[in-house]
Amino acid sequence: SPQYIQFHDILVPSQAHSRESLEYAQNFSVEDTDVLAVTYPKSGTIWMQEILPLVLNEGDLTPIRTIPNWDRAPWLEETRLAVVVDQLKSPRALVTHLPYGLMPPSFHTSKAKAIYVMRNPMDILVSSYYFHQMAAFLEDPGTFDEFMDKFLEGRVMFGKWTDHVKSWRGSDLGDRIMFITYEELVEDLPASVRRISAFTGKNLDEDTVQTIAKNCTFSSMKSNQMSNFSLVPKTYMDHDKSPFFRKGVVGDWKNHFSSEQVSRFAAVIRKELEGASFSLPWSLE
Ligand code: A3P
Repeated sequence: SPQYIQFHDILVPSQAHSRESLEYAQNFSVEDTDVLAVTYPKSGTIWMQEILPLVLNEGDLTPIRTIPNWDRAPWLEETRLAVVVDQLKSPRALVTHLPYGLMPPSFHTSKAKAIYVMRNPMDILVSSYYFHQMAAFLEDPGTFDEFMDKFLEGRVMFGKWTDHVKSWRGSDLGDRIMFITYEELVEDLPASVRRISAFTGKNLDEDTVQTIAKNCTFSSMKSNQMSNFSLVPKTYMDHDKSPFFRKGVVGDWKNHFSSEQVSRFAAVIRKELEGASFSLPWSLE
């Protein structure tokens, strides 16, 4: 499909990615002080992209008011990185959807840290279904049922969710990696900000934690034009079809899955994760 580039065993959208950008990512010099927000798409990427730079710059709100999110914490694998790399302040915040096995060699040899955000895959599927309707750079998802099959088979951007999670959960990064869920962020954002600041070695005072949390709520981000993708052309993202900041809740899958779809989905996910060294924090039913 012209909408995707095959990169090793995964597909990536050819909008925002190119052979050159993927090559650039492989040769990128990750620095010891870098912190990467790592996600499978629709797990809370843009949310962590907002939180992380604010933690690293100790609550300075200037960037979220003046710099679009994609340039504040650029994607490692996207074309924008080469354009803005020299403007990034240390410690740098980067974002990536790459599975662990496709991370650049310099990431492995560095002391850079990673924050892996996980989300209930049933909610990811729903979020992705709507995202495919609004993002012109992705193919029409078809029916929800058809899209579920695609998702389970990994015929979607960045491949199978289970492969992505297994790759990062199985990494040998020790204390260089922190796992957090979208559900934890929803449940207690200030506590999540505190966890992230402790992990990144920033001892933020409580006022700063609260300031960051307040500026990273769904409604704050949805109304911030530097974060809500309203600056991109309608031919790229059509928020009238479905807004990027769609619902921002836990459990919307209940409004979309039939009971047959719940069983089918859960059976495939459980099978894919058989023998995995970790268990999922959600019950898939
Ligand atoms: P929904 O489609 O379920 O609303 P990603 O950034 O990885 O593409 O993920 C997008 C999802 O994260 C969307 O989920 C979006 O609404 C949600 N999201 C983004 N910022 C959020 C926030 N501050 N609070 C809650 N959800 C947020």
